[in-house]
Amino acid sequence: MLVNFKRVTTLVSFIRRCSTLSKSLPELTKDRYPNIKRGDYAELNQNHLDYFHGLLGQNRVLSDPSDCEMYNIDFIKGVRGYSQCVLKPQTTEEVSKILSFCNQHRLAVCPQGGNTGLVGGSVPVFDEIVLSTSLMNNIISIDNISGVVVCEAGCILESLDDVLREKGLMMPLDLGAKGSCNIGGNVSTNAGGLRLLRYGNLHGSVLGIEAVKANGDVIDCLSTLKKDNTGYHLKHLFIGSEGTLGIVTKVAVHGPSKPKSLNLALLGLHSFENILQTYERAKNDLSEILSSCEMMDERSLDVVTSHLKLKSPIGDFPFYMVVETSGSNEKHDEEKLNAFLEGVMSEGIVADGTVTNEPGKMRAIWDLRERITEGLLHDGYLFKYDISLPIKEFYSLVPKMKERLGSDASRVSGYGHIGDGNIHLNISVPEFSPDILKKVEPYVYELTSTYKGSISAEHGVGFRKPPYIHYSKSENAISLMKDLKKMMDPNGILNPYKVLPS
Ligand code: FAD
Ligand code: MLT
Ligand code: ZN
Repeated sequence: MLVNFKRVTTLVSFIRRCSTLSKSLPELTKDRYPNIKRGDYAELNQNHLDYFHGLLGQNRVLSDPSDCEMYNIDFIKGVRGYSQCVLKPQTTEEVSKILSFCNQHRLAVCPQGGNTGLVGGSVPVFDEIVLSTSLMNNIISIDNISGVVVCEAGCILESLDDVLREKGLMMPLDLGAKGSCNIGGNVSTNAGGLRLLRYGNLHGSVLGIEAVKANGDVIDCLSTLKKDNTGYHLKHLFIGSEGTLGIVTKVAVHGPSKPKSLNLALLGLHSFENILQTYERAKNDLSEILSSCEMMDERSLDVVTSHLKLKSPIGDFPFYMVVETSGSNEKHDEEKLNAFLEGVMSEGIVADGTVTNEPGKMRAIWDLRERITEGLLHDGYLFKYDISLPIKEFYSLVPKMKERLGSDASRVSGYGHIGDGNIHLNISVPEFSPDILKKVEPYVYELTSTYKGSISAEHGVGFRKPPYIHYSKSENAISLMKDLKKMMDPNGILNPYKVLPS
């Protein structure tokens, strides 16, 4: 089976919706971060363009600055490159030829999927060629019995999920950017999202990968088997390596069965302590049917109610939780959920709440949580942190940063995946300020490391965090990463300035 689907309108409208926010372009990365120097790469010339035109034709090579603009700016408008060339291959063979040519001519390349990444990894820093996988969007096969879907890297996550749901299956990951992000981007960032608690991360769900190395070699590890211990598990090198070790061209993912019964609760709570108590109770009382457990503070909810005019179905509280159950027996699931809710409410752990199994109402509750990222862009400039912490310290950084920044920040908010110990700390300021940046970094990373947390739980390191990777990884580990990079991409053409410190 080969299903080709057009880039869905949600992608275009999502990106447009967000790009109308700021009329002025963000400062060029090279000017905002003058310490980063352009590597010793060739500059694009007419001979290079002629080769790309010969390979892809005129329409799949963008070189007009206005056509290239959206590929140069990241989702949160914090970084901007000035690439003059966007390539849109349709096959692995084309990706291989492009990389082989770029490697020979020392042209740097920035791989890009849906460009929803939040660490500046998906756009060029200087003039790197953008290799967009957006036209590699065929589903190659779906096995109804095993649940395995094999597809090209440019398939949009939501479109894959829609196709699988028609067959009684689903994608094992879900995130607010699902209408735009590509499975290749998800794999390359090892994206977590809203249901990691239930289905685990992509190191488990991805069964196989086809990727192209910097020199054009195609690495075929596109196994669809759950068990395959023949040699080193090379697929793991590409999962989460953010386009620095190779370009992912195809993936095989295990899709679990679509649940028959789904319930969603939005809860209001008086303290963070109450969130911890509720999470513990949810784990124990709901156990195998708990599929998502998320939290947000009042300032995060305010982002979507004030800026996006969404309506909350419950009153105002300092904290909120979204708890989802999914299972196979409606009566059984409802009984369990009701018993859990009655328990936490009668004991005063949860102050108020609403629960629903109606699709429209569930969507409305999910929007309150999922659209915070989009809503925050209305605040101005965002310093965005994505941190794993021991569960008891989960919320500690938010009040600390609030106190440290005082009136410098217009909003310090915290929301995230409480079930995975992963908080998103967001600091809103009217506009970028190097002085405020100095107040926030490296303090935020030092604090995280004091608590033995991770400075990147799920978004990756990208362009924003390489100088700080040592807060979460040892010197020897970083050195081995550098060795791997050198071996797989000796000329350093793949996504330079990202992930590893120079
Ligand atoms: P891009 O942004 O295009 O690229 C991301 C990185 O992967 C870049 O370094 C790029 O060079 C590399 N890359 C892309 N495609 C390939 C490829 N085929 N081969 C090699 N390298 C490649 N992330 C989470 O983990 N959890 C969330 O819950 C979550 N929610 C989000 C909600 C919103 C509203 C937004 C805007 C973002 C969210 N993200 C989340 C971040 C982002 O969506 C994910 O990182 C996503 O996986 C990126 O996919 P993409 O296709 O947009 O990749
Ligand atoms: C989320 O969980 O909403 C995402 O990871 C995006 C964000 O951090 O804003
Ligand atoms: Zn997240």
